[in-house]
Parts: sequence; C-alpha cells; structure tokens
Amino acid sequence: MAGKGKKLRSLSGIRPSGNVHIGNYLGMIKPALEYQREYNCIYFIADMHALTTLKDRMLMRQYTLDLAATWLALGLDVENHIFFRQSDVPAVAEYAWYLACFTGVGFLEKAHAYKDAKAANKEVNHGILSYPVLMAADILMYDVDIVPVGKDQKQHVEMARDMAGSVNAVLGDDTIKLPKPVIKEEVKTIPGLDGRKMSKSYGNEIPLFCEPKVLKKRVMSIKTDSTPLEEPKDLDGSVIGELYAHFSTDEEYADLKGRLKAGGVGWGHAKEDLFKAIDRSIGEARERYFEYRKDENLLEDVLRRGAEKASLAAAPQLERIRERLGFNV
Ligand code: TRP
Repeated sequence: MAGKGKKLRSLSGIRPSGNVHIGNYLGMIKPALEYQREYNCIYFIADMHALTTLKDRMLMRQYTLDLAATWLALGLDVENHIFFRQSDVPAVAEYAWYLACFTGVGFLEKAHAYKDAKAANKEVNHGILSYPVLMAADILMYDVDIVPVGKDQKQHVEMARDMAGSVNAVLGDDTIKLPKPVIKEEVKTIPGLDGRKMSKSYGNEIPLFCEPKVLKKRVMSIKTDSTPLEEPKDLDGSVIGELYAHFSTDEEYADLKGRLKAGGVGWGHAKEDLFKAIDRSIGEARERYFEYRKDENLLEDVLRRGAEKASLAAAPQLERIRERLGFNV
C-alpha cells in the first residue's frame, strides 16, 4: 500500500469476557473501526488480561472466538490491518517485565481497577496489580501513536505514558514513543438498562448480537419513570434518548422527541422505536456474525496470520529495549 510506512498507528484491545454489548460497541469498537481509514490499526483480543479473572479454558476460547467474529462482522479489514490474540505474541510478557522493573508498586496501587477490587474485598492476585503494566506493554511494544479506548481505560493509557517516561529517563528519550489516549467526546458513557454505565458486572447490558426477540426483550426492560401516558416526556437525557441518539438519524430523533413532548405517547412507544433502530442498524452485521462464528477454522486462521504481523511490528521495539538493557540481541 502506498505510503503505508508513514501512516500513524492506532492500537486497542478488548477483553474476552463474554457477550459483547452495545456499550462495548459504541464506546470502543465502533470508534476504533473508524480509524481504519487514516491509521494502521493494531487491534487485539486481550486474553492475557482476561486471565486475571477468567480461568476456564472453554469459556476463554468461546469468548475469544465470539470477539473475533464480532470484529470481522463489524467490518475490521484484517488484510490491511493487524488483528490478533494477545497470547499469540507472548513477547508482550517479556516487555511487561522490563516495564515492571521501572515501575513503583505505590504507583500501581493508585489504579482505579486495583483500588475497586480491594475495596470490594475481592481476591487481588498479582495479575490485577500488574494489569496496567501488561497493558502498557501492549501499547508501548507496538510503537503506537493513538489508543482509542472507553473512558474507563483512560487512566491505564496515562499510566502507560508514565511508564514510558520512567524508562526513557534512564535508557534515553528515544527508547519508547509516548502514545495518546483518544476518547470520543460523544460516546463517553453508554447507559445500561438501569441508567448506570452499561456493564456486564451490573447485569444491565444490551447484547450486540443476539436474536431479535432477545434484543427486543432487553430494550423493553429499560427502566423508565412512571409519567402517565398523556403527560409530556423529555427524550433528552433519558436512557432511551441517549441510546436512540446513536442509532437514529437526526430527523428520527427530533420526531420521537416531539411526539413524547406532545404527550399521549408512552415510553413503551419510544422503546419500540429504539428497538427498531438498533435492529436496523446492526441487522446485517448480526447475520455476518453468525456466519463467521460457525467457521472456527477461519477465525483461528485470521488470528494466526494477525499474530505473525504483530510479531513483526513489535520486533524493532523489543530489540531496542533489549539492547539498551545490556541484554543479548
Ligand atoms: N484493559 C482493556 C479493557 O479492559 C483491554 C486492553 C488490554 C487494552 N490491553 C489494552 C485496551 C491496550 C487498550 C490498549 O477493555
């Protein structure tokens, strides 16, 4: 491809944690896919990160293939970009070790995810404490320019920059490139059924690819206030409105807003419209998803070829840091 070498790199990862939902899609996958036009993209399935909580080989495999099929169905171009499974390039664990030796324990203890796990009295394994180090290795080992992530991952990307800074202070400023987190303003937080952030851990998620009747059931179970049918309602700022904005045209949004404001239209009608808009917007991708998901050999093959390209993309950075550490290269 002409000019390929000059293109900037975009990198992001997503954990295989089961049932990709609309929050994952709008908050991370969709914006990441948009970067395909202008960047060389490196996207991966963060199975080594998932290992901090998931220790079931069947589920690990199932969730990994679900994600692979999801990205392909949504239009990730695996010929021109890099898409792989994190554990297929195990050098990232080596790179994480180098970073770990430049990273204070006190610094890691400030991570939200770690503090939350401790506060909830969860078992905190070493992997949870060093989660940001492995994530920094993902980012820094591939020499990337931008990291499109959801708001919840911003701190992790900032920590990666700090780690790069600590390494550079000792090994030389040109050792590691500092990447930028990018968070699309309009998709900062996607609300779930109960109005809290959509998250599997709250059980308030709307799955991205499921049978339409399951989708409909989930949408119909969005919590709304009990304003009587005839009273005016405000679509703006409601959960339905926030979701609808992502799946409707401006005219459709204005139309539904007007009807709700006029009174005589209930939240149930609004949910119908929301369901139809989601269904229309993802319907074709859903069909592709089910097709891809059936072909596990194809998915494995895509991931394997992606890992080969990822290894090549990481090689210069690995060599540079090994050399500067006084290791054999
Ligand atoms: N921690 C991210 C999440 O929970 C996944 C992830 C792992 C990631 N490595 C990354 C995201 C590197 C961006 C860049 O979703």
